[in-house]
Amino acid sequence: METVMTDTHTPIALITGGSRGLGRATALWLARKGADVILTYHSNREAAEATRAEIEAIGQKAEILQLDTGRVSDFPDFAARVRQRLQDVWKRSRLDFLVNNAGQGVYQRFEQTSEAEFDSLVDVHLKGVFFLTQALLPLIIDGGRIVNVSSGLTRITLPGFAAYATMKGAVEVLTRYLALELGERGITVNVLAPGAIETDFGGGMVRDNAEMNAQIAAVTALGRVGQPDDIGGALSSLLMGDTRWMTAQRIEVSGGQGL
Ligand SMILES: NC(=O)c1ccc[n+]([C@@H]2O[C@H](COP(=O)([O-])OP(=O)(O)OC[C@H]3O[C@@H](n4cnc5c(N)ncnc54)[C@H](OP(=O)(O)O)[C@@H]3O)[C@@H](O)[C@H]2O)c1
Repeated sequence: METVMTDTHTPIALITGGSRGLGRATALWLARKGADVILTYHSNREAAEATRAEIEAIGQKAEILQLDTGRVSDFPDFAARVRQRLQDVWKRSRLDFLVNNAGQGVYQRFEQTSEAEFDSLVDVHLKGVFFLTQALLPLIIDGGRIVNVSSGLTRITLPGFAAYATMKGAVEVLTRYLALELGERGITVNVLAPGAIETDFGGGMVRDNAEMNAQIAAVTALGRVGQPDDIGGALSSLLMGDTRWMTAQRIEVSGGQGL
């Protein structure tokens, strides 16, 4: 059974929501650094297939699996599918890296936020991260790495993100507790908190709303909003860089937004 990474060991990363946006960018960065990837998508299989083709063009293996990270009852079956795929494609029983990235945006002022909107965020951004990590833990090598994707909105406050940022804040606390308990197996657990990035997220508002884009750029030290590659580079470095002694940390990758 594999436990530590060696020079000849090709790492395998599982990225939730790896079909588009930040997950896709991270998958491509990891592939360029020599990792293979299992990426999940929710409903956009076409985007997942396109990302898989891009990874294969780089020369790495990629597998795609459908998953709704808001449906905890599906996780045992999902873990079984991951186990089977690891065996069939890699003749291995474990993954090296888990990236809890999948998620949807809900932009709603506090007073108008419905219980259904709140619950959808709890399901995907909190329960999903908690129980998917639990379900996949037996499939992660000792000495592996987990990164949970949070948001700059846990540090800076903007109207309309109370429920969303509350979930991300919870994930940051969860990360420290996971780091403590999983440290026994040499697994590191960190949070990467992106600032505003131009993706489809939240209806593409950072990318497509010129006024919002300019406002964020004006309060960002590096003078622009982020691109998916800005996150893919940083996140892949957390997984494949010399960061093995770094755990329980929140790393913000925002170009210095709202300092
Ligand atoms: N973009 C930003 O400005 C920003 C800033 C801070 C943090 N974040 C966080 O970064 C993460 C990725 O965001 P993004 O900007 O890359 O978003 P995105 O471009 O909208 O991509 C979202 C990804 O998550 C998947 N997904 C959505 N809901 C899902 C569900 N219920 N179950 C499983 N997968 C689901 C999507 O799958 P399909 O393709 O099948 O729909 C897609 O792969 C999220 O956790 C978000 O909160 C984003």
